[in-house]
Amino acid sequence: MDSKQFKQQLLEQLYAPYKNCTLCPLGTQGRTQVVFGEGNPDAQIIFIGEGPGAKEDQQGRPFVGRSGQLLTRTLQHLGITRETVFITNVVKCRPPNNRPPTPIESNTCKNLLLLKQIKIIRPKILCTLGSSALQSLLDQTAKITKLRGNPLQWQNITLIPTYHPAYILRNPRELPTFVQDIKTALDSLNKS
Ligand code: URA
Repeated sequence: MDSKQFKQQLLEQLYAPYKNCTLCPLGTQGRTQVVFGEGNPDAQIIFIGEGPGAKEDQQGRPFVGRSGQLLTRTLQHLGITRETVFITNVVKCRPPNNRPPTPIESNTCKNLLLLKQIKIIRPKILCTLGSSALQSLLDQTAKITKLRGNPLQWQNITLIPTYHPAYILRNPRELPTFVQDIKTALDSLNKS
């Protein structure tokens, strides 16, 4: 078994006990499925969003709605496909009305799943999309406007924060910044 198959197996074993998780309030607030994340289990980069929206909740896949299409197109524009990276969220269950997850919800899901996903995949780069993901990994006061685009160290992994694609859909003038930040993340893969 190669490293990719081994990591895939570990990810499946991680997910299995949580397919119907109700260990935080989001498990009983209307979500239909736990959206674990998808992509290359041996990826060198993980993109981390906030939490599933309506489309993701329906399909059981991360970033498949309008925000996801923007992320997918940006990756394609920069010469890579979704399948080569890993894409997930801080919380795996859709918050009601797409509200931001509470610190209790983020912390619970981060400790049960996200940190373990990172440990299994062992990427070189983490790219957080939006404030929720950045604050969940750093601290609740981290400011995306100040930190975006600049690589920082998180537990021996390079973390590059950028905006959430939903923010770019609302503020299209920031699209070049978003593309540049993701390019910075992908370029630092070739350097490390
Ligand atoms: N927004 C997110 O943060 N994650 C998704 O998977 C979709 C939209």
